[in-house]
Amino acid sequence: MGTEFNELFDEWAHTYDSFVQGEDIQYKEVFAHYEEILEDVVNKSFGNVLEFGVGTGNLTNRLLAAGYNVYGIEPSQEMRAIAKQKLPQDVSIIEGDFLNFVAPSHVDTIVSTYAFHHLTDEEKNVAIAKYSQLLNKGGKIVFADTIFVDQEAYDKTVESAQEQGFHQLANDLQTEYYTRIPVMQSIFENNSFQVTFTRMNHFVWVMEATKQ
Ligand SMILES: C[S@@+](CC[C@H](N)C(=O)[O-])C[C@H]1O[C@@H](n2cnc3c(N)ncnc32)[C@H](O)[C@@H]1O
Repeated sequence: MGTEFNELFDEWAHTYDSFVQGEDIQYKEVFAHYEEILEDVVNKSFGNVLEFGVGTGNLTNRLLAAGYNVYGIEPSQEMRAIAKQKLPQDVSIIEGDFLNFVAPSHVDTIVSTYAFHHLTDEEKNVAIAKYSQLLNKGGKIVFADTIFVDQEAYDKTVESAQEQGFHQLANDLQTEYYTRIPVMQSIFENNSFQVTFTRMNHFVWVMEATKQ
């Protein structure tokens, strides 16, 4: 379902960059070390980079600064408009989503930050299978996203959000598709990737998967 969250992101687009700077108390921990998280994804990338869920273009900007060719995919029209204002004019930011997109001719690294949880686990598997076809041996997927070690860790986080009165955060955690590390590990391994997980804050992990 590529367009399920489009309306939400069209509305959020104009204030999104204040959230990543930690200005909203409910999401402060979600975006803790945001710059380092983007930098880590950039450092793990190489060659021609395909980026999903570009948003306002913050990761794209860093990838370009590091000298990579970037081809961005973003379903929300408002997010695309803001990204295009912030990025050099010749960067391709194309309408599409994790599952429905026109791929560039050669891709070395597929990246995404704070976005893969918009797919159900079944859709995540379909997406990773597609990317496995796109990448050569040694090609990479580098995703940063909220993911939980197990059910207990997820339940405790929802409970803690509710106790702090963070009802919007608790609602997000319960209505979007935040998965568990063993589920992601199986999805990657079943599609010929070797994967490592690195924790960046209470919520976000960087998943670095290399095609075997
Ligand atoms: C929380 S923002 C993250 C933006 C940016 N990557 C960052 O790290 O700041 C999530 C982005 O994912 C996009 N998105 C939502 N569903 C998507 C999907 N199915 N495929 C690709 N992108 C999606 C949203 O439109 C939004 O721009």
